[in-house]
Amino acid sequence: MAKEGVEKAEETEQMIEKEAGKEPAEGGGGGSHRLGDAQEMRAVVLAGFGGLNKLRVTRKAMPEPQDGELKIRVKACGLNFLDLMVRQGNIDNPPKTPLVPGFECSGIVEALGDSVKGFEIGDRVMAFVNYNAWAEVVCTPVDFVYKIPEDMSFSEAAAFPMNFVTAYMMLFEVANLREGMSVLVHSAGGGVGQAVAQLCSTVPNVTVFGTASTFKHEAIKDSVTHLFDRNADYVQEVKRISAEGVDIVLDCLCGDNTGKGLSLLKPLGTYILYGNLVLTPCNPHLLSFQWWQVEKVNPIKLYEENKVIAGFSLLNLLFKQGRAGLIRGVVDKLIGLYNQKKVKPVVDSLWALEEVKEAMQRIHDRGNIGKLILDVEKTPTPLVSQKQRDLFSSRSESSRCRHKRGVGRWGGRKCRQGSAGQGWRRKPEVTK
Ligand SMILES: NC(=O)c1ccc[n+]([C@@H]2O[C@H](COP(=O)([O-])OP(=O)(O)OC[C@H]3O[C@@H](n4cnc5c(N)ncnc54)[C@H](OP(=O)(O)O)[C@@H]3O)[C@@H](O)[C@H]2O)c1
Repeated sequence: MAKEGVEKAEETEQMIEKEAGKEPAEGGGGGSHRLGDAQEMRAVVLAGFGGLNKLRVTRKAMPEPQDGELKIRVKACGLNFLDLMVRQGNIDNPPKTPLVPGFECSGIVEALGDSVKGFEIGDRVMAFVNYNAWAEVVCTPVDFVYKIPEDMSFSEAAAFPMNFVTAYMMLFEVANLREGMSVLVHSAGGGVGQAVAQLCSTVPNVTVFGTASTFKHEAIKDSVTHLFDRNADYVQEVKRISAEGVDIVLDCLCGDNTGKGLSLLKPLGTYILYGNLVLTPCNPHLLSFQWWQVEKVNPIKLYEENKVIAGFSLLNLLFKQGRAGLIRGVVDKLIGLYNQKKVKPVVDSLWALEEVKEAMQRIHDRGNIGKLILDVEKTPTPLVSQKQRDLFSSRSESSRCRHKRGVGRWGGRKCRQGSAGQGWRRKPEVTK
């Protein structure tokens, strides 16, 4: 997949779509620029399913809130792995394109639809949105909007709902995490992975086993009890430390990891599938191989071995299965934990809307530690000319490439971070 993403990024240059008769936003499109006509806004648009070249920043009509909706002036949006899968059309029942991607954002309430209670214009909020989050303005039903604490930044708030609600629901609602238990989580350095690690630390004596690319280990070692490289034989490694296995397996990989996860469960342990990263179609041949590897679960075997198998999809729970009330209760508990300073979203880096391709490339390349944020008010890092690029490359090639396993300064695997076609951005804004 990384290769696919890199190739597509080469097609990228200036991402502001020049619509007939309209000039791009001043300075490449800083978020607070009002675009001549106040009835319009900037938004990221996915023109069709496929590579990074399907993404554009363009102008769209400003949405107005319907009955029961809030209109939010967006400050920051969360970029999730799921957004890459949407871009590729690699989801069940994909919606029609063109569409505005994005499932979560933070910002300020700008208008209230009829019958909305409990919110006022000016409230600082975070929200789930059923698509359309990557825009200057969104409208979403009040059921999916939550007030944010005063000291929570908009970036943190955009990094909060998807990762922390998913982690909380899996650990406490599905698997019933309790004192002294053990948990295995993959992609431990990612958005959900770091939320899982933090929530586990709120329960006494929980052991967390995590897999992650090795270059992330130094940064996340304090949040995970035992860390393994993502390519390690983690079944053997876990059993070497805990012969009986673990109580909870959180699997976002699928493929043959399902069988491995089930084999690691202690009696009464719970395996939860919540993603299918190894089925992401970087290679169609590998894809069918991985599907073939997915464990066929035999209920009789589960009963004999005293094992629980579960699945979890937050977006289905919210948007298809009508559980917004349950999720609101979970968000309230999570805000309580945030206020007690027991959890804090890990923000990997901030990107302008116009830098969405580079941001996606960073996840493709497994470069992120924590969450990527699209900062609507951020001005894109200027593109660097070919001459400057050559100069910079020759000066820094040795330093950029001397990192372990070819890992560059910002965590990408190929020593090519910030590349975006003819133009080349120096580096993302990284917050640690
Ligand atoms: N079911 C739900 O409700 C729900 C909600 C949110 C997220 N999720 C799932 O949780 C998983 C993590 O999501 P996230 O948004 O927090 O992403 P993330 O973990 O922040 O980023 C992706 C990370 O996954 C690892 N990875 C594994 N296979 C990969 C591949 N084929 N390509 C690129 N990276 C790969 C990489 O870390 P390492 O190299 O360090 O392993 C990468 O940094 C995803 O599968 C997502 O779909 C599910």
